[in-house]
Amino acid sequence: MAKVSLSSVEKKALIEWRRDFHEHPELAYQEERTSEVVARKLSEFGYPIQKKIAGTGVMGLLKGEEGGKTLLVRADMDALPIREENDVEYKSKNEGVMHACGHDGHTSMLLMTAKKMIEKKDLKGTLKFVFQPAEEGGNGAHRMIEEGVLENPKVDAALGLHLWNNLPVGKVAVTPGPILAAVDEFELKIIGKGGHGAMPETTIDPIVTAGQVITALQTLVSRNVSPLDTAVVTIGAIQGGTAFNVIANEVVMKGTVRTYSLKIRDEMPKRLEEIVKGVSSAMGASYKLDYRQVCLPTINDPRMTALAREAVVEVVGEENVLEGERTMGGEDFSFFLNQVPGCFIFVGSANDSKGLNYSHHSSRFNFDEEALSIGVEILMRGIERYLI
Ligand code: NI
Repeated sequence: MAKVSLSSVEKKALIEWRRDFHEHPELAYQEERTSEVVARKLSEFGYPIQKKIAGTGVMGLLKGEEGGKTLLVRADMDALPIREENDVEYKSKNEGVMHACGHDGHTSMLLMTAKKMIEKKDLKGTLKFVFQPAEEGGNGAHRMIEEGVLENPKVDAALGLHLWNNLPVGKVAVTPGPILAAVDEFELKIIGKGGHGAMPETTIDPIVTAGQVITALQTLVSRNVSPLDTAVVTIGAIQGGTAFNVIANEVVMKGTVRTYSLKIRDEMPKRLEEIVKGVSSAMGASYKLDYRQVCLPTINDPRMTALAREAVVEVVGEENVLEGERTMGGEDFSFFLNQVPGCFIFVGSANDSKGLNYSHHSSRFNFDEEALSIGVEILMRGIERYLI
């Protein structure tokens, strides 16, 4: 059993808040209601009202004694364009939008942590409780940094967590180094010359060229990245052609590249384009490539990870702490970790016996709400350890 100091009333409130957010999910940069609820609750707890940051972002600032360090603790607030298929009484009321990643839980956990910390009278430093918009592809973290969330006072370190259905509730993973990948996105157009399907000699077939390009791109990972490093190249969409007897003019593909190391991340676009260029030109086709680096790899600082680990051990016990939980998914908390040392923690939230084990971003995603009070306790103890 996890050691949790929240009262039963507080545990109940945490679940109520989460279910309220779950019922009213909002997409990236549209978190109007969510941020209103957050701002209202923060001021009820006694936080000074801050003006919105990065559109719908909210910050609760808790100033302790002069001279202490400043810690940023972050939750993301946005939901996903998914139609919920769970049959629960707090099912999404916003058709086609769903909290399918657990950000409803993150927001309520951070609110409760803010409430608990303002009740403590002996805080040694400053806390910034950051409620961020648009984690899902919108880089809300980056925008908050651009709008000065790390300044006045200057942030020294950052803590964040994610409910994690890859682990059962009660288990928590804390891992130093890279744990989530850098995300790149590209759109590639192969431009040929269309014509009659029975007269290929008069055309340049972009579908055949695309086939060769896709195959050649597999060597980006297998032949250009060391087997001891990590990268993924995925073509997730391909469109071209309209009829069985027509050779198309062009084919459009969309894909993603995921990497852990910044060096490999920076090499990928150049190498990818070399392959596309070489293969297309050999086939007589041309191409247009739009390549975009979306977010950085999430890299946990070793000292902050050690500190977070101590907090986690206190809450769930040594036997329930895991290391080495990594994924090639992306997370824009990486922008904070690129500026200040910090740690991002995975808090186990699945429960097989209750059927709460669908993956994040599934239309049936849901988690064991026991994980909420565990998360709050970890954040509180992490904060106390840092601000001493
Ligand atoms: Ni998420």
